[in-house]
Amino acid sequence: MSTMSPVSLTTENDIAIITIDHPPINATSHAVRLGIWDAIDQVNRDDAIRAAILICAGSTFIAGADVTEFGKPPIDPILPDLILKLEQSTKPLIAALHGNALGGGLEVALGCHYRIATATAKLGLPEVNLGLIPGAGGTVRLPRLIAVENAITMITGGKPFNTTTAHDFGLIDEIVDGDLRTAAIALAERIKNTPCPVALIDRAPVNAPDADAWDALIAGIGKKARGQDAPVIAARTIRAAVTGDARTALGLERENFIRLRDSDQSKALRHIFFAERSVAKLPELAGVAPRTIAEIGVIGGGIMGAGIATAALLAGYAVVMIERDDDACERGIANVRHHLGGSLKRGIITQSRHDQLLGDLVSSTDYATLADCDLVIEAVFEDMAVKHDVFAKLSAHCKSDAVLASNTSYLDIDAIATACTHPERVIGLHFFSPAHVMKLLEVVRTRLASPATLATALAFARRLGKIAVPCGVCDGFIGNRIMSAYRKHCEYMLEDGSLPSDIDRAMTNFGFPMGLFAMQDMAGLEISWATRKRLAPTRDPNERYVALGDYLCEMGRFGRKNGLGWYRYDEHGKASPDPVIDELVIAESAKKGIKRRPFSDAEIIETILSAMQAEGEKILAEGIAHSPDAIDVVMVNGYGFPRHKGGPMHLKKTA
Ligand code: NAI
Repeated sequence: MSTMSPVSLTTENDIAIITIDHPPINATSHAVRLGIWDAIDQVNRDDAIRAAILICAGSTFIAGADVTEFGKPPIDPILPDLILKLEQSTKPLIAALHGNALGGGLEVALGCHYRIATATAKLGLPEVNLGLIPGAGGTVRLPRLIAVENAITMITGGKPFNTTTAHDFGLIDEIVDGDLRTAAIALAERIKNTPCPVALIDRAPVNAPDADAWDALIAGIGKKARGQDAPVIAARTIRAAVTGDARTALGLERENFIRLRDSDQSKALRHIFFAERSVAKLPELAGVAPRTIAEIGVIGGGIMGAGIATAALLAGYAVVMIERDDDACERGIANVRHHLGGSLKRGIITQSRHDQLLGDLVSSTDYATLADCDLVIEAVFEDMAVKHDVFAKLSAHCKSDAVLASNTSYLDIDAIATACTHPERVIGLHFFSPAHVMKLLEVVRTRLASPATLATALAFARRLGKIAVPCGVCDGFIGNRIMSAYRKHCEYMLEDGSLPSDIDRAMTNFGFPMGLFAMQDMAGLEISWATRKRLAPTRDPNERYVALGDYLCEMGRFGRKNGLGWYRYDEHGKASPDPVIDELVIAESAKKGIKRRPFSDAEIIETILSAMQAEGEKILAEGIAHSPDAIDVVMVNGYGFPRHKGGPMHLKKTA
């Protein structure tokens, strides 16, 4: 091993400790692979060594591949060969895991004879999230260690598991409470004189499903994947690995891995993965310190306010919620309690944490309660007069350097800011519903916003675990503006010959979780109706206007909430096309003298994409978004654009 190697070998009596120290994530870079290779040679050569431990320095075990090696020709030793070598070691190997043991990291651990992990470690094979499958034996070895069905869940779902689940599955031998290294040495002492367990590659699969069960499993995965190839190919690769010879299966896995790596879907998924990680990094903010935030104010405890308060509580902030009267205060608290109850039920928080978080929330009608807040987020009715009134009170009662944010969907935040004292601290924080769940957050820079205000908002977003997308002030910012643009074209298609269910079907076939009209029904139709009424006086009379959405609201059809919208909903909330709507649409075409014609799915999607891309170009030209990546991140994370297609701007670039 060279002195520069990120891998070192030390001994503790007759136990070798192989330490990987390759910050930040101990990725399986070439130097790491080579270092482990040499260390294993040394362990097997040295008669004084009876067992070896593979452990990492820093905050994590090997957390994945080295992304800088992506797309470059592989240099020996490649990871699959290294793992075969680990497996063939004549001295028992123990993988000691902490932090994230993901992707190639977990595959390395599968090459070892024993695995132990700290209680907080996460284990997973997340390759499908990048349109890939494990490429170093994961599909072959995992179903020979844990039940095939669990291996399928882990590989096709791509979600990491905690150590409790990993232990239940049999993926790890021990959960370590104290010091990992000490526990690994203790285990090594216990097993050093016993023969190596049979390598996973030579074991039989655990509880393999029969042929019928396989067909059903793969069909289910295909349905859930909504057009994404990797989960289905992963399942088929596991099936081949379980039903056939394991060593042959390694070759097939590699072939499938390479095929997927070069696919459009993987390129799109990698594009969005990197875009999400770079979109909030603004060069002009280098060296600008965010303000310290401890206490958050939220104005309004309705749908958004309660979600925002929940998100802030979960991130560890104390929250003051302001409402109009005592009843509304109680409703606001009940809304937050409901959300936190959901987090408790899903195992995201414990009962004691739940109770503590509720204790961190106070509700009041008195704006003076906001005196200590460092950041206040307004989420009251979408009405300019109400917003102005609220911001006047915030100007009067908050600290002069408290950041004041609005969650408005469409209103002009510049106008709100200029009416405030210290307008440089006003910003837009446009959350998506449900705010404690949805990852996207548009951070809207007002004209006068100071760099410190923006840096504070971005730091707050990061602490909430959000994907923050900086954008400028305009009607609808990035996402709602693009949605308005393509909605218009969908409405044109209604008048020209489509029905809502035609457009929605084309969209779901393309990979959206739901179509535009189903989504509108879910969000409620009256907010956009109010916006249309607000904009009516400034509407260009020469521009084509589709009034169908207005008719629905006039008919009292507000969407899913009252069982009638573009669709009708049964008592279980199941949607079905409504002949009343079809007749309304067809009658409107007749009224306007439009001869209806059929639209194919491809034509519908082409129309939608062109509308998104054209509006995206305008948004870029106006500087509302700083890059096409920002637009893709918004559309994928807030508007259901299929992730494996990379976003509308990515599709335009690669068309
Ligand atoms: P909502 O109607 O559910 O809640 C508004 C709350 O504000 C009500 O509880 C009301 O009592 C309270 N309120 C009204 N005036 C107040 C005042 N002067 N002082 C204190 N509290 C007051 O509305 P929702 O849906 O939560 O929307 C709030 C804001 O968030 C709007 O600006 C909306 O455009 C925006 N927004 C809504 C989204 C959604 O999906 N619903 C998504 C993103 C933004």
